[in-house]
Amino acid sequence: MSAPIIRLGHRHKRLAYATFSLLWVSGALWLAFHYFLGVEGDFGPEPNPLEKWWLRLHGLAAMLALVALGSLLTNHVRLAWQRNKNRRSGLPMLALTAWLAATGYALYYFSSDANAAWLPLLHWTVGLAVPLALTLHILAGRQRAPGSHTRTQRRKKPVLHLVAQPPVSASQKARP
Ligand code: HEM
Ligand code: HEM
Repeated sequence: MSAPIIRLGHRHKRLAYATFSLLWVSGALWLAFHYFLGVEGDFGPEPNPLEKWWLRLHGLAAMLALVALGSLLTNHVRLAWQRNKNRRSGLPMLALTAWLAATGYALYYFSSDANAAWLPLLHWTVGLAVPLALTLHILAGRQRAPGSHTRTQRRKKPVLHLVAQPPVSASQKARP
């Protein structure tokens, strides 16, 4: 069995990116539909019927994202932490996701008219910043291991140089 490494495997990385993208896009779509795409009903402005579906998708994506986060904790975070690598941008990533999980929980169970003006803001303003934070984290990680992330370098194979050998003469062959 191969030793655990900090860098994510190809499939692991794709799954993590897909989950975090779904999370962000579903949250952003809810915001767009809630604030800009309301509809006119018989008795005045109403929420767009799609709005509730974006929140349902977001709740699902949030559960998947927490699973993805858990899968990062076992090797990626544990090993990087032990070896003191990229902590400066890794720690804010952990704080960010913990904050989103805590405020998401609060939104689900404790949202009311009394906190409607500020509780959602605490959640989604930070949520919108996730792609920026993740990009900075990845760039900081790449600086740590410069040049080791390009496809060409990863795929580079040793080149065989075929050098023409001088023909072996009959007298050389005959020697013991
Ligand atoms: C929510 C938490 C985190 C997420 C979502 C996350 C995600 C990522 C991703 C996607 C990469 C790029 C991986 C690649 O190109 O193969 C990366 C790189 C890296 N991260 Fe994290 N990370 C998190 C927390 C942390 C923490 C807490 C640390 C340090 C204690 C850390 C250390 C590193 C290092 C060292 C790299 C560079 C790996 C390499 O290229 O060798 N990460 N991270
Ligand atoms: C680990 C990360 C996250 C978790 C666990 C999480 C969880 C949640 C939960 C549980 C809710 C309440 C759902 C409901 O009331 O039915 C919520 C609402 C919401 N989330 Fe997230 N979320 C996360 C990240 C994000 C991100 C990245 C965004 C980016 C835009 C975002 C935007 C929103 C929005 C706009 C709402 C609706 C706010 C409202 O009801 O006024 N969330 N989230």
